[in-house]
Amino acid sequence: MSRIELGKGIAGLSKRVLLIVGGGVAAYKALELTRLLRKAGVGVRPILTRAGAQFVTPLSLSALAEDKVYQDLFSLTDESEMGHIELSRSADLVVVAPATADLMAKAANGLADDLASTTLLATDKPVLMAPAMNVRMWLNPATQRNLKTLQDDGVRFIGPGEGPMACGEFGPGRLAEPPAICEAIMLAGKRVVVTAGPTAEPIDPVRVLTNRSSGKQGYAIAGALAELGAEVTLVSGPTALPAPIGVKRVWVETAVDMLEATKAALPADAAVCVAAVADWRVDQVFGLKLKKGKDGPPTLTLVENPDILATLSASGPARPKLVVGFAAETDNIEANAKAKLARKGCDWIVANDVADAWVMGGDENAVLLVTKAGVDRWERAAKTDVARRLALKIAEALA
Ligand code: C5P
Repeated sequence: MSRIELGKGIAGLSKRVLLIVGGGVAAYKALELTRLLRKAGVGVRPILTRAGAQFVTPLSLSALAEDKVYQDLFSLTDESEMGHIELSRSADLVVVAPATADLMAKAANGLADDLASTTLLATDKPVLMAPAMNVRMWLNPATQRNLKTLQDDGVRFIGPGEGPMACGEFGPGRLAEPPAICEAIMLAGKRVVVTAGPTAEPIDPVRVLTNRSSGKQGYAIAGALAELGAEVTLVSGPTALPAPIGVKRVWVETAVDMLEATKAALPADAAVCVAAVADWRVDQVFGLKLKKGKDGPPTLTLVENPDILATLSASGPARPKLVVGFAAETDNIEANAKAKLARKGCDWIVANDVADAWVMGGDENAVLLVTKAGVDRWERAAKTDVARRLALKIAEALA
């Protein structure tokens, strides 16, 4: 999938990034990253480690960042201009590129013996690390342990990529490319709520009314949004899927619970309703398991469930700026999707043709994106690609 035109997504967000440049051959790419971020209107305040300064000069970094480069924890001049604690909070997020094995180890263990590690310990802002190191250093159990610790602590990672390395070896350890690092911060500071999966409406203690939704498309969308840096709450009905990395998952069973959990995740900049919510629930849930008997099968009275998408779309102070709904149709897809857009009051409808047996529960999807501006047809692709494309489109819309 092609990348979004650079700058389109992150421009206008008036984001500020504290960029920690560690020591490694890949540090030269931090200069390109700085240039791309500045081009996109993002403010860059660089911190250069002592090892980093062996690979790039403070002068190049400063010229590209159009800001002062901070290097020394005990510099009187730096401290009088901005204390290191204040520095650690002076941006919307902290990006470490390249994140060396040493920086990762320090951050994972709370060491703070220089400006970069002190900043990482003192910051209250989200942290994104782009590791780069020799393949053996990356695969070393110590680094993998530190990676796990940092991920558990909420640090996000991009890369490393795989390929030939400056040291002559081959494997994972290459710094993610600067445009990819830019993408990973497109939705930084944005909150998104995603609903996914089926709902299960109880009939009695053991039986439920449900549907065949696998949750795959919704989970892929939640994951793709998190990869762009969004803070994602995934309100999920029962599925067997693992939570995507960096996503906060809230389990629910019924439509009523899904509505409550979704409202609790507000305020949000965007809401994406992918869940296949049961339209009806049983009026009176039986307290004891229904038994077969001489009276024949029970009669179930159904009542309508709340419409989560329509509720979120209703105008009011809590309405997300962008509300996206899904439509599973078996006929007249475009006309039905347009009608649904108007009826629900949402901004976009992503319509898919579930008459094709490969969509429900499968790994691929073909969709129509219907907005007030028109209709866009996305040909059959992996659900993860559809998710990524939608996430980039959402990032553009929120920029
Ligand atoms: O009305 P229909 O079920 O076809 O609409 C589908 C869209 O509405 C999906 O985005 C789905 O997540 C959402 N929906 C909802 N609450 C319901 C029913 C549908 O959020 N009760």
